Order: sequence, then structure tokens, then C-alpha cells
Amino acid sequence: MSKAPIGIFDSGIGGTSIFKEVHALLPQEHMIYLADSKNAPYGIKSETDILNLSIKNTELLISKGCKLIIVACNTATTNAISYLRSKYLIPFIGIEPAIKPASLNSATKNVGILATRGTLSSSLFHKTSDIYAKDVTVIERVGEGIVELIETGKTNSPQMKALLKEYLSPMIEADIDYLVLGCTHYPYLIPILKEMLPSHVKIIDSGLAVAKQTKAILEGRNLLNTSVKEANIQFFSNGDIAILKDILNNKYPVDYLDF
Ligand code: DGL
Repeated sequence: MSKAPIGIFDSGIGGTSIFKEVHALLPQEHMIYLADSKNAPYGIKSETDILNLSIKNTELLISKGCKLIIVACNTATTNAISYLRSKYLIPFIGIEPAIKPASLNSATKNVGILATRGTLSSSLFHKTSDIYAKDVTVIERVGEGIVELIETGKTNSPQMKALLKEYLSPMIEADIDYLVLGCTHYPYLIPILKEMLPSHVKIIDSGLAVAKQTKAILEGRNLLNTSVKEANIQFFSNGDIAILKDILNNKYPVDYLDF
């Protein structure tokens, strides 16, 4: 079983930001990535729809023999991971907005968070904020339209800059010193965000934490692949594969799959 692949899915290409962290930390692990771009964005869908899409992706990865699944999507994690863990035997790693380190380290006691509507309205997110963000003011913004622009290759477009200006302004006015990226698509915005935010604002996401947690769970279950052979990495998209290839700098094979 240790030679089986790690499965990873997202509503689209955003979870590649998590793939990159996991692959860097665990280069010997085989991985299968599903980009459900046909159904992106998940963030505006109902909890039931997000759950059903997460089940569909999970069952496909299980049918491909995966030993562990990374839900590389905050929206799917916050809406579906408890159910997935209760229904399937294999371990799941999820991703949630890093509100805890931001709140603990904030000096201005004002923290910004940009995430999808589905994540910000989930009970899991509310529970985590209630516990860890008691002593800070959290300025939440739904990143309406951002995922759609990234999914269509318009990450560096004037439309993106206009949206970000609108979403960041109230945060800058509120004197945030941390910006939490609560969506796996958003790490691709870091260069633009750095240009737009005051230089003392730190941007944090949960990608490295996910990679470390994946390693710990594999180790704990004796599932780490210790083989020295080169990892087999497969990407499948049910959307535009050119956009996925591009975000991966053409480094990996990408296949179209209708799922
Ligand atoms: N990458 C997903 C997330 O982390 C994007 C959600 C969406 O498709 O709206 O939330």
C-alpha cells in the first residue's frame, strides 16, 4: 500500500499550489490530481452540491487506488471533510484558512481573510474562528469572481487588480497586519497582493502545513513510500487542460478526463 499514490482534488487548478508543497516535501510519492474545473467555482454552490462533488472526486480517486486523499480546497474541506472521514476508510487531509497563526501573531489585532462564500459561511470555519480569533478583529471578504478569473488564465489581468483593490481596501483601512488566504487558488495572487498591500502586511496560507500533516499521517500509518524510483505524477482535468498545464509550467503530463 505504501507504493500507492496520494490522491488530491480541487474545484479546479488552485489545488496545484498544495500539490507543489506536498511534492516538494515528499518527492518520492506518486500522486494523482483531479481538477474539477467543469464544476468550478465550488464557493458559490450549496453545501449539498459541494458534498456531492467531493464524494464524486473521492470515489474516483479511491477507484484509482489512492492510499490517502488531500482535499486541496478550503471550500470542500469546510463543507464536506467530516462526512468523507465518516464514510471512507482511507485518511483525508484537508485545508482550512490559517486563522489561528494569524490571530496569535497579529500585533495590530486586525486580521484580514479572503476566502470563498462557501468557506466563510461554513460551520467549521465559524467554529475555528470562535476558538482562535477571539482577541482579534477579523475582516472577512468573499473573493467573488477571483476563482473564475484564475480558472480562465486571467490571474494578472486588470479585472483581477480591480477586484482585489475593492476587497483589500477595507482591510488596509482597518490596519490589518496579516492577510489569510482561505482558498487554494489565491497563492497565485501573492505577487499582485504584495504590490497592493502595505509592506508590513504578512500573507499566509496553509500549503506547507498541509504538506507536513500529510507526511506525519503517512509516517504514522507506515504508508510513506521509501522507494527511490522517480514519482509518477498524473493530472486529470475535466476542463481546459491548457490552463492547468500552464500553471504547472508544462512540467507534468495532463490528461482530459470526463468525471
Ligand atoms: N480552491 C478552492 C478553495 O480552496 C476554490 C473554491 C471554488 O471553487 O470556489 O476554496
